Amino acid sequence: MDNPALSQEDGTELRKRPVNNGEAPHVEVETKGIKLQRNLGLISGTSIIVGTIIGSGIFISPKGVLQETGSVGLSLVVWAAGGMLSLMGALSYAELGTLITKSGGEYPYMMAAMGRVVAYLFAWTKIIVLTPSSMAIICLTFAEYVMSLMEFCGEPQIPKKMIAALAMITLAIVNSWDTKLAASVQVFFTGAKLIALVIIVIGGLVWLGKGEVETLQKGFEGSTNSPSGVALAFYDALWAYDGWNNLNYITEELKNPYVNLPRANVLGVLLVTVIYVLANISYLAVLGTEGLLNSSAVALEWGEVVLGKRVAVIMPLFVMCSTFGAANGSLFAGVRTLYVAARENQFPEVLSYVNARRLTPIPCIIFTTILALLMLIPGDIGSLIDFFSFAAWMFYALAIVSLIILRFTMKNEHRPIKVFILFPIIFLLCSLYLVVAPIIQDPRVEFLYAFLFIVGGLVFYVPLVHFRIHKGCFDPVTLFVQLFMEVGPSPYVPD
Ligand code: ARG
Repeated sequence: MDNPALSQEDGTELRKRPVNNGEAPHVEVETKGIKLQRNLGLISGTSIIVGTIIGSGIFISPKGVLQETGSVGLSLVVWAAGGMLSLMGALSYAELGTLITKSGGEYPYMMAAMGRVVAYLFAWTKIIVLTPSSMAIICLTFAEYVMSLMEFCGEPQIPKKMIAALAMITLAIVNSWDTKLAASVQVFFTGAKLIALVIIVIGGLVWLGKGEVETLQKGFEGSTNSPSGVALAFYDALWAYDGWNNLNYITEELKNPYVNLPRANVLGVLLVTVIYVLANISYLAVLGTEGLLNSSAVALEWGEVVLGKRVAVIMPLFVMCSTFGAANGSLFAGVRTLYVAARENQFPEVLSYVNARRLTPIPCIIFTTILALLMLIPGDIGSLIDFFSFAAWMFYALAIVSLIILRFTMKNEHRPIKVFILFPIIFLLCSLYLVVAPIIQDPRVEFLYAFLFIVGGLVFYVPLVHFRIHKGCFDPVTLFVQLFMEVGPSPYVPD
């Protein structure tokens, strides 16, 4: 029988050969050099950050932040502080990502600092809930804006979910097809959303220039003095800033990560912070506090006032670009935790396999997309966002604790970036507040469920990861996936 070798332009090879060495006959797939490539430079890296951060939030949250804070001044302070907090996080992650240059985000850092069980519980939550739910939330917002362009009558839930599903499947195909294509999609849509926000910012400045400064002159008048109000405002704003850590999930695919990771992290978050604050000033100057509080789709209403009803139809198109791009970035980065955790044998190994021709991690993209599609089924995404924030901030806190532990346990390791220790400490205190405050103020049973879900990962960990009682059971599935998707193992090879 011949020995078909699928040669790649870049020298990688996949060979399928029948084996019969006394064991049950099977096909062994030899892989050589199959690994995810370093395709991303500073521009695509920064686009991953900016393009995932800017998604649905800046078009939805301004109203909530203003409502909770009660005043123009305090709401702008919350937007600026949200950016500073994200910047402190991004700087701390620059240290972590250049100290441990593995992909997977928080996963390898927790593994090094706190051991395999904590890292597994993070991966479990990230893979099963965080990535799929962020995909679902963003794609549903995308679908909402698509629907706003069509005049739908009747029950809109089904078409909305179908549009969201279609967006997810399209992104899965793009990401499976070619990493470079997925990166180009990211750069393109980041450009589109930046254009939209620059239009909003310039429109606001023109409005201010015309002397429409009344709203801003109100300053801190009416500010809430309830700490829980401020905390709620932060939740809204921090959803809009979420994604500042996304480049750390793909460190192994970054060209020159020691330089590009810190630069893209800092540049990306600073750019977004400036844009967000200016966009909010513009919303306020144009719509006034009343107008903003009564708006249902703030960007659309802003467009109607400044650009006129006819031109304002471009606003939903921009929001669609923004959400579609953010969903692409979330999938691109999010699946890498699964890829790395499967490579570490904490999830079925086949999920870490990479396609031999396209050099993309197809099994983990498909797995994540299926979970994201399932997330579309329940109606209520409000509770998804609540769970998302609670779990996400708990793990950000643990990642920062890892940074502090690693300062002791990997004391002599070379650190291309060593952040001023006050940044991670302030970030840690704020993240602990964000996790604990809602539990104390409003001890809902959902938080208990969320906690039980996270710890519940151990139900699989003990038998399947620790004792590996399934040894061999998955082999037929692995073999099938391997041949069907032409994927092979891609072990970690340090540079
Ligand atoms: N900030 C984004 C938005 O406003 C959401 C990012 C979701 N998080 C993530 N890690 N993908 O829509």
